[in-house]
Amino acid sequence: MLLKTTKMTKPVNGFSKLSKQQKIDWLAEKYLSNTPEAVAVLQNYWNTDESLQKLHDEFIENTISNYYLPFGIAPNFKINDRLYAIPMAIEESSVVAAASKAAKFWGERGGFKAEVLNMTKIGQVHFMFKGRKENLHRFFEENRQKLIDAVAPITRNMEKRGGGILDLELIDKTSDLDNYYQLFAKFDTRDSMGANFINSCLEKFAEVLRNQARATDYFSEEEKQLEIVMSILSNYVPECIVRAEVSCPVDQLSDNPEIQGKDFAEKFIQAIKIAEIEPYRAVTHNKGIMNGIDAVVLATGNDFRAVEAGIHAYASRNGQYTSLTHAKVENDIFHFWMEIPLALGTVGGLTSLHPLVKLALNMLQDPSAEELMKITAVAGLAQNFAAVKSLTTTGIQQGHMKMHLMNILNQQQATEEEKQQMITYFTKNTITHSGVIEQLERIRS
Ligand code: MEV
Repeated sequence: MLLKTTKMTKPVNGFSKLSKQQKIDWLAEKYLSNTPEAVAVLQNYWNTDESLQKLHDEFIENTISNYYLPFGIAPNFKINDRLYAIPMAIEESSVVAAASKAAKFWGERGGFKAEVLNMTKIGQVHFMFKGRKENLHRFFEENRQKLIDAVAPITRNMEKRGGGILDLELIDKTSDLDNYYQLFAKFDTRDSMGANFINSCLEKFAEVLRNQARATDYFSEEEKQLEIVMSILSNYVPECIVRAEVSCPVDQLSDNPEIQGKDFAEKFIQAIKIAEIEPYRAVTHNKGIMNGIDAVVLATGNDFRAVEAGIHAYASRNGQYTSLTHAKVENDIFHFWMEIPLALGTVGGLTSLHPLVKLALNMLQDPSAEELMKITAVAGLAQNFAAVKSLTTTGIQQGHMKMHLMNILNQQQATEEEKQQMITYFTKNTITHSGVIEQLERIRS
């Protein structure tokens, strides 16, 4: 279907107030040359269950259709001696297959171990104060409890669940930016990711901070004008860390009779060391980890942008972007591990709203946030193991192209019979894009 885009005349006003049909009509007229097929594509993705569709319509503004991703399962993940089938939402063809393979491999070698080291979240009120530092410090000490008391209505429920505010500090950033200070708060948000909770607390802190400054008699007129710039959680959570690891005797490390465990370990560790010192490689190496992490984060309705931002910041915490995973051999035991920040929730947000997310959490036996952190980190470690194992042995393309074969066949609108013939043919032949096209043409002619 070839579309000719109509030239825009003027910006649209009040678009969000239009009905869904009006929005589609507008789009079709302005950008899709009124092509009925284009509108049909949007409608094909609507859910026939009207209440389910309405639910999705209301997640965001201006919904005109749904965007599907495959929702797959990687079974046989043994984590801390418990078996999980991990839900993964991802479009990349080889990811679930690689995770499943790694799960099986490590399942036969004792499984994965995972541990949450801490679960502290961070939020900041950023503000400007022109005046005497000692006055501001005195003011903060005098008002610290008032600030905490002011958020009591917000924190009450969280405290009942064992969470709340852990710490509140005044930070002087004036050596980096003139007049810039922060209220730096630490939170325990239990099983929720906590963004709304944290932001509500911070906005209340900001209000009290501003009002108290105006009413402080030992402040000069300029000091009373303490200016709030913004109040927002940080997605950098270096104190919300989960560790995932695997280990086994080196001589059990290879599942290929042609490769000795010792040689496998040596090459694998070299690959990890390269990613530790070489940022170009580290980014791709960590991208492989995120293949597993993002897929679980998405399937369980969590905020993958927050997770991505936080993890990559953590990967550069020492001034150079580096590998998130590490490996070593000690006393003939191979160890492979990763520690990453992960702020996840299993209550609130999409978790009880989105039926597939709910199901994903159900199949993980309704985990706490802490358990979900462990499962997600393990999916990332498994993915990295599978990628580096392929890269340092067969090369990545063998597995990738096998999974990609189906994509190429679907692009070429192959029938079921053609697909079967092609799969049989390519079990013995190397898959390349042009090779698949040529073979398909041969079959068809
Ligand atoms: C592809 O999605 C991920 C890999 O590039 C990761 C890696 O190179 O480690 C295979």
